[in-house]
Amino acid sequence: MKVAVSFLKSNYNLIETINKINNTNAEYIHVDIMDGIFVSNTTYQFDDLYNVLKNTNKLLDIHLMVDNPINYIIEYQKLNVDTITIHYEINHSIIDLINLIKGYKIKAGIAINPKTNIDSIKKYLNLIDNVLIMSVEPGLGGQEFNKEVLPKIEELYKIRKENNLNFRISIDGGVNDKTIKYLNLIDVVISGSFICCSNDFQKQIDILKKG
Ligand code: DX5
Ligand code: ZN
Repeated sequence: MKVAVSFLKSNYNLIETINKINNTNAEYIHVDIMDGIFVSNTTYQFDDLYNVLKNTNKLLDIHLMVDNPINYIIEYQKLNVDTITIHYEINHSIIDLINLIKGYKIKAGIAINPKTNIDSIKKYLNLIDNVLIMSVEPGLGGQEFNKEVLPKIEELYKIRKENNLNFRISIDGGVNDKTIKYLNLIDVVISGSFICCSNDFQKQIDILKKG
């Protein structure tokens, strides 16, 4: 299991937080982008993040909680990006966005809110590299894991196996030492406050990786 660290909620300032993540063996930095429209909160602007993220030794996993992702995709592809994930629930052509992301040779993902079912995204599964199951409502770090999303993990796992597909399965929200036990089928766990609100990032990551 790989770990992507979200720095949305942290006990440290942005530069300290990214430095601390760089000094761990986490595979990715998970970058949460919010526009104040798709979710009510907003986060850092691209220019602020560019300067702290341009020299990181980690690959970036970009989570676009935004209603119109086009300009964000065009900006963020300039960084050392592994994956860009958009939300299924936006009012925009998903196929066009997947193609835009893939055109940059970046992996494309679709995120689904807790109430969105797997059937809604079935037709995209042969086109994408990542499914991000939200285990909290998007928009805020430090929320409690919603166990009702767990059957979606097994459903996706089964679909992937039966159809010989390759997308990875990731989960985001409330992942910690208690909830990790439900996540043995997950390829990449995203964890924020459990790691960044602690004084030993690597120790927390070790706990998640042990499962
Ligand atoms: C929630 C974000 C998550 C969140 C994870 O909207 O997409 O990435 O920051 O933080 P924790 O692990 O604290 O729930
Ligand atoms: Zn996220």
